[in-house]
Formats: sequence, structure tokens, C-alpha cells
Amino acid sequence: MKSIKKICCVGAGYVGGPTMAVIAQKNPHIQITVVDINQERINAWNDTDLRKLPVYEPGLDLIVAEARGRNLFFDTNVDKAIDEADLIFISVNTPTKTYGKGKGMAADLKYIELCARQIARVAKTNKIVVEKSTLPVRTAQAIKRILDQTGNGVEFQILSNPEFLAEGTAIADLMNPDRVLIGGAETVEGQEAIEALASIYAAWVPQERILRTNVWSSELSKLTANAFLAQRVSSINAISELCEVSGADVSEVSRAIGTDSRIGSKFLKASVGFGGSCFQKDILNLVYIAKSYGLDAVADYWEQVIIMNDHQKHRFAEKIVTTLFNTVNDKKIAFLGWAFKKDTNDTRESAAIYVANELMEEEAQIHVYDPKVTHLQMLSDLDYLATRTPEKNKKHLTTHTDPYTALEAAHGIAILTEWDEFKEYDWQRIYDNMQKPAFIFDGRDILDHQALENIGFEVYTIGKGN
Ligand code: NAD
Ligand code: UDX
Repeated sequence: MKSIKKICCVGAGYVGGPTMAVIAQKNPHIQITVVDINQERINAWNDTDLRKLPVYEPGLDLIVAEARGRNLFFDTNVDKAIDEADLIFISVNTPTKTYGKGKGMAADLKYIELCARQIARVAKTNKIVVEKSTLPVRTAQAIKRILDQTGNGVEFQILSNPEFLAEGTAIADLMNPDRVLIGGAETVEGQEAIEALASIYAAWVPQERILRTNVWSSELSKLTANAFLAQRVSSINAISELCEVSGADVSEVSRAIGTDSRIGSKFLKASVGFGGSCFQKDILNLVYIAKSYGLDAVADYWEQVIIMNDHQKHRFAEKIVTTLFNTVNDKKIAFLGWAFKKDTNDTRESAAIYVANELMEEEAQIHVYDPKVTHLQMLSDLDYLATRTPEKNKKHLTTHTDPYTALEAAHGIAILTEWDEFKEYDWQRIYDNMQKPAFIFDGRDILDHQALENIGFEVYTIGKGN
């Protein structure tokens, strides 16, 4: 088996960047080049000011500082990195299609195909090509056909090696993964390729956590894992609404059911709805795949997870409007948090976008403070929904770099992200400077509600009888 000396990773995003940084740190003898077509992103990865890295993840800056320039490089010369590599990770984005057949459901594989065609055109020596992106089951077959039929006659082995990291905890997840999954062809060459990739992870991951499967199981397992995780959030969110009308408390219900070892305690936190670039996209993709095999019952079953999530975001926005005496027209609604979860600057599919959009439709003025998200990013998130014109969005969105000015004179405060710093604020000062009655809508259940009520706030929390 040929040992891997040079790696190329195509796609310097939330997965490519942190994953390659950790692989480089753990394998100083392997040279890793992360390439991207986005010059601005590559410049940010190369910035000497580590606060300017394009991805915010606790602990990432130190690892980049250690490996960058030693055996970790960020570049826009995609051809060169492909040409030199023994092994190529494809880590490009696979968003939901926004056009044509499968619009709004299927994964858009155009970036994957472009990547495969580029590898085929450039490669002059045998390569292992690894699917790191999340892909529909059987994509490896399409990649193989492109590589074999448009290539230069060299041999390609295609592996599936999905990434299970969660944003905000990416470094911890990469350092100590529950498992690393590698799917490959059931041939001698396929098994050799699996072992070549496994040896890279074996630098820090115990052998028993490196799972080997066939390619299709690996591809399908990634979609399934995300569907199961999201299903748990939708399940507890469904119960949260029942709690509110029955006087039960969803955090108590979570604790009670989570201590059952058959259920487990993780992913049972009720919220304003799950966000992020993966859950919705991957479930929609699963639903589309099931439908295309004619499995309508399977498709309907998984689609319900999304329907429940949309309902949860909608009912949170509606609760704000009804509580504020059925109108938010020209009222200041302050948002704490815009990112889809704490400890990340990623806002893709964040519940905050949908809640803000719905309140803006009611003519509210939204004022946001988020420690890591810029005004431009928030506007582009709202514009992407395309329900309102960019001019209208601009008119209704104000962002703040100081939380206290964001909250000053607000008619209501909504907590959309569970950033730890929100718990440390001077809530008496905030109360004194707010419109009365002073309403808080805690979509993340992170604040001390008793203490807030003692100050005089009226608190609504997801999943608690009010
Ligand atoms: P991202 O959008 O942050 O990064 C993708 C990068 O690929 C972009 O910078 C883009 O410019 C680049 N790119 C696209 N086409 C290219 C090409 N032809 N050549 C060079 N660069 C190209 O996406 P991400 O969040 O890193 O996700 C990547 C994949 O990993 C997706 O399939 C996603 O589903 C999967 N995934 C994401 C996460 C997560 O938490 N974000 C976790 C597990 C798996
Ligand atoms: C997810 C998967 O967890 C990860 O394994 C996969 O590789 C990529 O997709 P990510 O989207 O980064 O990761 O974050 P995750 O921690 O799963 O949270 C997703 C959303 O669910 C967030 O909006 C989060 O706030 C929400 N969530 C999570 C809840 O509302 N309640 C919970 O109990 C857990």
C-alpha cells in the first residue's frame, strides 16, 4: 500500500478548514493544501491576525497557528494541489437545489461534479478521491463514471468519509470523534484505499472507532445520522407545545425521559427550532431520495421532522405578536443572537432569520446583537429568503455592537441563540431602560426566569406553562 505524502482538500469552508487543520496537526509528515475558488476566503485563512479566520470555532486559531506554513497550506491554485496529491478530499458545499428538477429538496451536486471533472482533467497519477461532503446515496457511482470516462487513464479509488463534526464544537469533535466512517469498494484496491485513509486517522483515533463499510452504507449513514438527530429535536419541540398548554415543564420532561438509557439525554433540548446548514438540507435530500425510489410513506415520515420545525419557528414569532397586544407595528423588538447556535459565526438556516422575517412582515423594527455575526451577513440572510425587498429589509433591521444599546427602550427581547454571555448581563439595568410591561421571550431557555420575574420582567419560555 502506497503511503500518503500529500493531501489536497477542495473546499475551505466550515468542514474543509477545521478538518484539515486537525489532520495536519496530527500528521506533521503529510503536506496538506486546502484549496478554494473563493479568493477572499483563502486570504482570510492566511491572515496573520487569527481573529480574522473565516470560520469561528473555539480552539481552531491555535491549531492553525501551529500547522499553517509547516504542513498546512491554503491556496487558490486548485490544479496544482490536485496534481501533486496522493489523496483528495472533496469538501465543497452541497446545498438544497434552488432551481429545476428537485428544486427545494434535492442536493445540488453541481459543485461536486465540477470538482470531479477538474480532478479528471488534471490528474496524471493514480489518486484516492474521498467524499467528505454530505452526499446522496450512490453519488460515488456518478463521480467514478466522470473520473473514469473523462480522465487521463489513471486509476481512481472513491471513498466515502462523511464528517460528523458539529459547529461550535468542531475541534473537540474532530479530536475525539465517536467514530470515523470510511466506505470503500469491496475489491482489493478498494480495501487498500480504505486502509490508506484509516492510517491518517489512526495518528490519533483508536482503531476500534474507525468503522469500515461499503460506499453506499457510508453515504446513507451520514444522511440518516442527521435525520435521527433532527428528529429528536422536533420530537421534543412537539412536546414543548403540549407542555405550554398542560402546565408540564419541557426541561423536566427532557430530564425524565433522557435518564432512560434506551433514550439518552442528548439532543432533547427544546428550542425555537433547529437551524444550521445540515439538518434541513439533509432531511429534504433523504425525503427526495425516498420519493425517487417511490417510497412515499418513508418520505412522508421524515418530512414531518421539517414540518414540525417550521411550526416551532412560526409559533415563537406568533407568540411575540400576540403577547405584545397583537401588534408589533413600529415596535422595537431586540434579538439576542442571530447565529444558529452558540460558538459559531455560521447563520445558515438559523431560526432567527425566520422569526425576524415574520416580525418584519408585521412591520416590527428588529434590533440585533450577536457577538460574531455582522450586519451584512444578517441582511444577506434576510434577502436570501426573498419574501421582502432588500430595501425593506434594510429599513427594518438595525444591528448593534453593544448589547445594552440593542436592548434599550425595546418593547420585547427575544433570545434566539444560547451564547453564554447573555446570562452575565445586568438584567436590572436592562429592565430599567425598557418599555413596560417588559417582555422576554426566551427561545433557548438559558436565563434565570425566577430572577427575571423578581426584577419585574414578564417571561415566556419555550415549553413552560405560562
Ligand atoms: P461551506 O460552504 O462552508 O464550504 C464549501 C467551500 O467549497 C466554499 O468555500 C466554496 O467556495 C468551495 N467550493 C465550491 N466549489 C468549489 C470548487 N469547484 N473548487 C474549489 N472550491 C469550491 O460548506 P461546509 O459547511 O464546509 O460544508 C461542506 C460539505 O460538508 C457539505 O456537503 C456539508 O453538508 C458537509 N458537512 C457540513 C457540516 C457543517 O457543520 N457545516 C458538517 C458535516 C458535513
Ligand atoms: C449537525 C450534526 O450534529 C453534526 O453531527 C453534523 O455533522 C452536521 O450537522 P450542526 O448543525 O453543526 O451539526 O449543529 P448541532 O449541534 O447538531 O445543532 C443543530 C441545531 O439543532 C442547532 O440550531 C441547535 O441549536 C439545535 N438543537 C440541537 C436543539 O434545538 N436542541 C438540541 O437538543 C440540540
